[in-house]
Amino acid sequence: MKHRLTILVAICGLFISALSIYDANAASRKPVVGKKGMAVAVEPLATQIAADILKKGGNAVDAAVGLGLALAVTHPSAGNIGGGGFMIIRMADGTAVAVDYREKAPGKAHARMYLDEDGNRAVNPNITLTRRDGSTYHPPTNRIHHLAIGVPGTVAGFALALEKYGTMSMAEVIQPAIDLAENGFILTERIARGLNSRTVIFNQIPASKAAMLRSDGEAWQAGDRWVQKDLAETLKHIARDGHDGFYKGVTAELIEKDMKAGGGMIDRTDLANYQAIIREPVRNKYRGEYEIISMPPPSSGGITMSLMLNMLEGYDLGRMGHNSSNTLHIMAEAMRRAYADRARHLGDADFVEIPEHLTTKEYAAELRSTIDPFFATPSEELGPDLTMPSESDQTTHYSVVDQWGNGVSNTYTLEGGYGSHIVIAGTGMITNNEMGDFNPQPGITRTTGQIGTPPNIIEPNKRMLSSMSPTIVTRNGDLYLVVGSPGGRTIINTTMQLILNVVDHGMNIQEAVDAPRVHHQWFPDFLRLEGGVGRETADALQAKGHELSSRGFGGGSYRQGDGHSIMVDPDTGYRLGAPDPRIEGAAFGH
Ligand code: DON
Repeated sequence: MKHRLTILVAICGLFISALSIYDANAASRKPVVGKKGMAVAVEPLATQIAADILKKGGNAVDAAVGLGLALAVTHPSAGNIGGGGFMIIRMADGTAVAVDYREKAPGKAHARMYLDEDGNRAVNPNITLTRRDGSTYHPPTNRIHHLAIGVPGTVAGFALALEKYGTMSMAEVIQPAIDLAENGFILTERIARGLNSRTVIFNQIPASKAAMLRSDGEAWQAGDRWVQKDLAETLKHIARDGHDGFYKGVTAELIEKDMKAGGGMIDRTDLANYQAIIREPVRNKYRGEYEIISMPPPSSGGITMSLMLNMLEGYDLGRMGHNSSNTLHIMAEAMRRAYADRARHLGDADFVEIPEHLTTKEYAAELRSTIDPFFATPSEELGPDLTMPSESDQTTHYSVVDQWGNGVSNTYTLEGGYGSHIVIAGTGMITNNEMGDFNPQPGITRTTGQIGTPPNIIEPNKRMLSSMSPTIVTRNGDLYLVVGSPGGRTIINTTMQLILNVVDHGMNIQEAVDAPRVHHQWFPDFLRLEGGVGRETADALQAKGHELSSRGFGGGSYRQGDGHSIMVDPDTGYRLGAPDPRIEGAAFGH
């Protein structure tokens, strides 16, 4: 029966994804309506689990934790228990908190741990990759190596959120994930393709090969059943002992053993010491009636978004028009200024001092006065320091609202797709490569995409700077939007555009999610445009002095973010779910 159900849901998933193929020029779509509760996420099986929890009386936190744990089974490129992330919770009584479960550097970590004797980036000689032109190379040790792995935070974050704000036990909310791992689930074409795309790497790591690839060496096909017995066992330890079922006991022992064998640093002390932290969210008023509640450091999201919104408040964006060249010019100028400050000032606030002026209206007004309404400011004029490390394409965001009006916005990640690609032997768990979010070479900053400025240099037990920006917006004090996205540094801009599309441009939440997005991040000094922005607008932006990224414009191949969002309709109270069609996406309400 259970298997039949899984197949049925998988078929529904296929149907949903078929409906959701992204077309930036498609006629506007409508959100999915739920009268009481709503869950929206990248993958239908896990989304359904959250919707079921809501329907049977669990609250948004119960559902969000159940969803995150299920995605660890069904969305292996980013869903995880071996990574970390952030959760914004806003309870119906108005209490709002930020759960910080970002990975930490191990206790033995140090600033130069990714450099060889000559001070160059060290590589992992045990992994060989092939470029398109057929030449081979070894990946840097902060990408694919046991050294790339940060102390995972997801289980601690979920256990803490559940304990403080949930109503159900860990054993209850994790059971569907255990079932999916133990009995397997039917792979869709997308998941099969994703796993197959990493065959070369998984094949070079025995535990990863065993966990992630077909045992007969053939490629995965849509319709195959993927069973993850070791992962089911690891989840059962968490079901029984919660936080300690991961950070102590068998799983901690297996992690330490694998680290020793692979030349990593994480030991049982790092695991036993790991704690998720409840932080004050960044709160910022926008256009009077809206409050933006977002992630504080170690995320750069809340502060950078506040700075941009505070600059943009000085313009009537609605009248200037959605994605018009004038609007996009002003947005790009706000973005480059805010991202410059992000690089200059932001890091783990437990280690570095974050200037308070960054979120004030006065400072934003000062920066706004430097924006030329007709012409782009070259990024080099905004500061002597240069660029930031390149970030890759996997992370996942989901949104949940329950019948009482509690909302959860959660973004979590392994950093790159499939993280370090390393499965810890005996656990079935794939691990992050979040250490790659630290600045790898102190003092060395390059125009090509590397920064060496101090706030985000590696220190023992420090959290690496993130862009993840799970966000909740209230309107006149009531829950209004639950938004966020993956996408490395584009996350902050994508999340902001979801808000602007609704607040300034009057879109419904599905239109806001579907609308073409843009990105500027100070350096490299170019603007990325999703294809739907249109050639005329692109030309007008060029005439204003903006360089357009070749990746960012030309035929619509560039996709930015994956912002599964919810709006609570102020008139009806209905929960309007908007899955982002760019990858897959599902919204289930009741
Ligand atoms: O924390 C961060 O900002 C990055 N590790 C997130 C990476 C990411 O979003 C890749 N995305 N699709």
